[in-house]
Amino acid sequence: MKIAIASDHGGFEYKQTLIPYLTSLGYEVVDMGCYSTDSIDYSDYAFPLAEAVADGTVEKGIVICGTGIGVSICANKVKNIRCALCTDPLMAKLTREHNDSNVLALGGRIIGIELAKEIASTWLSTPFSGDERHARRIEKISAYENEK
Ligand code: RB5
Repeated sequence: MKIAIASDHGGFEYKQTLIPYLTSLGYEVVDMGCYSTDSIDYSDYAFPLAEAVADGTVEKGIVICGTGIGVSICANKVKNIRCALCTDPLMAKLTREHNDSNVLALGGRIIGIELAKEIASTWLSTPFSGDERHARRIEKISAYENEK
């Protein structure tokens, strides 16, 4: 599966650790920046990543900032993006099964790196349940978005 990963300076170290980890699991990982711990604006990296998921360049994306909040707010502004900020593996599993989330947000200053790895691998390997009730709810999100 081809995925993209992006961060601001607050998530840079986690991005650098997650890239080889996820590659070792068999994912093709596209690094969409940032490229150092220099202070930058998370929006400049979260929007391009979300666009890459929305236009099908990559199947899924992971965004990381200090809290995970700034990048998740940005990603969720992009049409057809369902970004889930997760702090434990159960959230990661359930958001894939229930919300068919296509972007995962992580907080590099909130959770430890081993937990971040577990959340990312769980999220990437869990399929959408396909249950009618969940599909219906996602459809309502799309319908709302399309009315705007
Ligand atoms: C950067 O200092 C910090 O504000 C950012 O990484 C993120 O936590 C924003 O939501």
